[in-house]
Amino acid sequence: MDIRPIGMFDSGVGGLTVYKEVRNMFPNENIVYLGDTKNFPYGPKSRDNIISYTKQGIEFLISKDVRAIVIACGTATSQAIDVVKDLYSIPIIGMIEPTCNYISTSSNISKVGVLATEGSIKSGSWQSSLSMCKHGLIVKSRACPLLAPMAEEGWTDNEIARLSIRKYLADMTDVDALILGCTHYPLFTNIFKTEMPSSCEIINPGKLVAKKLKSELSDSNDTASGNLEIFLTDSECNFVNVAKKILDKDLYSIKQISI
Ligand code: DGL
Repeated sequence: MDIRPIGMFDSGVGGLTVYKEVRNMFPNENIVYLGDTKNFPYGPKSRDNIISYTKQGIEFLISKDVRAIVIACGTATSQAIDVVKDLYSIPIIGMIEPTCNYISTSSNISKVGVLATEGSIKSGSWQSSLSMCKHGLIVKSRACPLLAPMAEEGWTDNEIARLSIRKYLADMTDVDALILGCTHYPLFTNIFKTEMPSSCEIINPGKLVAKKLKSELSDSNDTASGNLEIFLTDSECNFVNVAKKILDKDLYSIKQISI
């Protein structure tokens, strides 16, 4: 049995929405989480910078002897996954492929919307992967630059968040499914649910990533203690408060590192 931990990586606290799903799937696995809070937000940064941050994050996690890495960040997935998959031999799972696999097998989705950061949308990665995964699928996309910073601020259930989301959704109300293509966006699920027609499926890719991880790991470590170790590249942020909202518990041992 492989007792090494699983590594997870995001620009900040949003990746914890994926952690939550991975934890549900793997209650006993030890997990090392890296939030690159010093470089947050990734959304408006250049592709070169995102690739370099993602490489640093992956190398840090490899130095922690993880056995697989989840890029729990839509922007890093969109901009860097192809590059890092070629560079490192460790299994690396991003947000897009598991989501496309799901869409390709869902018979009731013929028009899909994807919301993500400006960097993700500009890269065209979501749009091209979705268009390729299912013949005739209509894909609508929208960058939502205000949402990840609002989530880091803890503004996930107020009028400003609602009005911003309503504006971002203006052209999306006819889709069969809406993909939350940035891992910060599941924090706004209540608002998405009330702003979209009830017939629209709201897709949190984190759940699909957890399933994909299960299929990638040949054995799961049932004897470990389910430990979560969190590293941040800058601790002057609202991480602990937002983490509490996501996980419904206090996190005490967060370490600041420089990478
Ligand atoms: N959680 C990230 C994503 O999925 C990043 C948001 C940001 O850093 O701008 O895109």
